[in-house]
Amino acid sequence: MKKVYIDTMGCQMNKSDTERMLGMLSHFNYEETKTPEEADLLMVNTCSIRQLSEDKAFSAVGTWGKWKKEFGKDIKIGFCGCVAQQKAQEIFKRAPYVDFILGTHKIYALPEIIERINRGEKVCECTETNQTEDDKAKNYEIQRVKGVGAWIPITEGCNNFCTYCIVPYTRGRERSREPEIIIKEAKDALASGYKEITLLGQNVDSYGKDFKDKQYRLAQLLTDLNNLEGKFRIRFVTSYPTDITDELIDTVVKLDKVCEYFHIPMQSGSTPVLKAMNRRYTREEYAKIVQKVRGKVPDVTITSDFIAGFPGETEEQFVETLTAIDEFELDYSNVAAYSPREKTVAAKWVDKYIPEDIKDESFQRLNKKIQENCLKSNKKYVGREMEVLVENFYEHKGKMINTGKTRNFKTVHIPCDKDLTGQFVNIKITEAKTWYVKGELIL
Ligand code: SAH
Ligand code: SF4
Ligand code: F3S
Repeated sequence: MKKVYIDTMGCQMNKSDTERMLGMLSHFNYEETKTPEEADLLMVNTCSIRQLSEDKAFSAVGTWGKWKKEFGKDIKIGFCGCVAQQKAQEIFKRAPYVDFILGTHKIYALPEIIERINRGEKVCECTETNQTEDDKAKNYEIQRVKGVGAWIPITEGCNNFCTYCIVPYTRGRERSREPEIIIKEAKDALASGYKEITLLGQNVDSYGKDFKDKQYRLAQLLTDLNNLEGKFRIRFVTSYPTDITDELIDTVVKLDKVCEYFHIPMQSGSTPVLKAMNRRYTREEYAKIVQKVRGKVPDVTITSDFIAGFPGETEEQFVETLTAIDEFELDYSNVAAYSPREKTVAAKWVDKYIPEDIKDESFQRLNKKIQENCLKSNKKYVGREMEVLVENFYEHKGKMINTGKTRNFKTVHIPCDKDLTGQFVNIKITEAKTWYVKGELIL
């Protein structure tokens, strides 16, 4: 057996690609190692959402390049994922020790690429396709990360072209995967013991819009998955605010396996900034959607993403983001400092760039607000009885704890000497911390 090490740097979609690549490689006698030093094949599966993530990729391959060049180690190096899709051949110039470059569109070319690099060739495969599937996919299993949850992409790409975002360039146009394929992948994951299915897409509510031969949307897919046998949970991310339909909300309420959790990135609390971002909603419209979801879905958790220091953002506009987090009671949010991305519209507004120190300060202020609200949200649940799917079991300060999630995506720490990983347990929430709640088992 040869050994492969993959450094997976991006979102869940990126992680899902790694699982597929590992599945293919296992057919060619590669087993995964977590120790780069012992690998014969080293790969980065890259993310280009921010400059920092891109830099990380080049720094990782740089280290491996040294092992190869200076210490004469017999290794092959692969550069995959979103940065590969975007930069293609250019990567060879910057990192000449890389053996192959593989973009997001053609991951099923990997077996053939391995053969070619083993013959001494250098390969770049970044052709854009409009496919979601590849016939070759059926020959390989997905080698999923061990755990309780399985990710299943349902749409690829994005058509929204928010002015800051690189994803439409790295993942191509939006296209939906066929329901049968998704359902089969879900069945396989459940048969292997996974207890939670998370459907992935840049904009999951767009699922099925592109089907010409049928009317089949996310609500239908959730219904069909909910009908599969066994006890398990279903989640879906990410929702674009104005695409969340009443039908979808009602479906979430109706279906027992679909969890009370929506990730609805707002990006900014200021309408003019949203306009500059090319988001298709105002502050007020976002508010209405959140209200509607909260009104219909009991105990729902709503999380969001925000960008700090978008070009041209004024102090007043920034404050509108802070107040949005309070006003809409967002349970948790991710924040990122704006990072200009090649090819995107906003990157051209150089004269409007926010100075780094102000951007940093906005970032800190947002994080503080998020922290406060997360604690506030957790406190609401103290004293409540809830169901937890246990994900981990480990020692913490001399005590054993199980950690897991409630249906509404709260992380729970449960002190208990028995490993309950993979089980659904009922707990009572005893204490709220900033990022998690403590619970005790109800026996
Ligand atoms: N499809 C999702 C977002 C996918 S990208 C949506 O529409 O909301 C994940 C997050 O990265 C985004 O929500 C955004 O907050 C952040 N992001 C994207 N481009 C960025 C950039 N250029 N600089 C900083 N953050 C960015
Ligand atoms: Fe990027 Fe906007 Fe598409 Fe989300 S919706 S992936 S932020 S372009
Ligand atoms: Fe995901 Fe990063 Fe690509 S967020 S889609 S890996 S640019």
